[in-house]
Amino acid sequence: MRRVLSILLSVAFCLIATIALAVKVPEKVTVGEAAKKQTPVTFDHAKHATTLVKTCDTCHHDQKGLTKDAKTEVKKCSACHLDPKDKATSMRDMALTKNPFHVRCVGCHKAEKKGPVACTGCHPKKK
Ligand code: HEC
Ligand code: HEC
Ligand code: HEC
Ligand code: HEC
Repeated sequence: MRRVLSILLSVAFCLIATIALAVKVPEKVTVGEAAKKQTPVTFDHAKHATTLVKTCDTCHHDQKGLTKDAKTEVKKCSACHLDPKDKATSMRDMALTKNPFHVRCVGCHKAEKKGPVACTGCHPKKK
């Protein structure tokens, strides 16, 4: 009986530990580190991460195999794309073919014919 109890306890402990350590998938995310010419972009991250896009690394491409149960820190895109010193493209770029967000985000919306492609669909008009 004691043995069973201790097994149950350790199972419970592992479960709690996993929940506590796993990556939290944020609900709404706002990207605005580069906001100079355009307003910050807010989108439903949880919906993208769990239903609209199959794999996390479609966007978090530098962290292959990332899952919501991963025990790792998720890097901000700006860590590499704000003022890149290597081959990474700049998120300050306005071109739809160069800015990494435009490439990834607008690229998919165009391909799937769903989701905003017009500027104001992502960069809301200043009030
Ligand atoms: C699917 C969403 C999306 C669409 C559509 C979109 N953008 Fe962006 N754009 C972003 C994101 C995300 C960033 C990064 C924002 C940041 O870091 O401030 C960005 C960054 C920018 C930046 C650099 C940030 C700055 O303020 O200097 C400019 C300029 C820009 N976009 C212009 C445009 C223009 C013009 C259009 C329409 C032709 C457009 N965007 C359409 C998502 C989008
Ligand atoms: C549609 C693209 C996309 C998908 C798919 C996606 N993410 Fe994200 N995620 C982002 C963007 C953009 C940010 C904001 C990063 C930034 O601020 O530079 C972000 C932020 C995060 C953050 C917060 C990072 C921080 O320090 O603020 C976590 C954690 C995260 N994502 C986890 C995940 C996980 C886990 C998955 C898969 C289940 C996932 N994401 C799928 C685009 C995506
Ligand atoms: C650790 C650094 C790092 C992080 C973090 C990072 N990137 Fe990148 N990214 C790069 C580098 C370097 C390249 C260019 C070489 C390559 O394609 O791998 C690149 C390329 C890209 C490209 C391809 C550009 C093109 O013109 O085809 C896209 C799109 C992109 N990143 C989007 C993102 C998004 C969105 C995030 C955040 C969710 C992100 N990156 C986070 C380093 C990073
Ligand atoms: C692989 C495909 C894919 C990628 C990558 C993707 N999206 Fe989307 N997005 C969609 C689809 C599909 C919809 C339409 C969802 C709906 O109508 O329910 C959508 C809807 C949206 C919307 C409107 C609804 C909402 O979530 O607020 C915004 C804003 C948006 N996307 C921003 C972004 C941004 C910013 C990125 C890049 C960080 C991005 N998307 C990357 C597929 C994608």
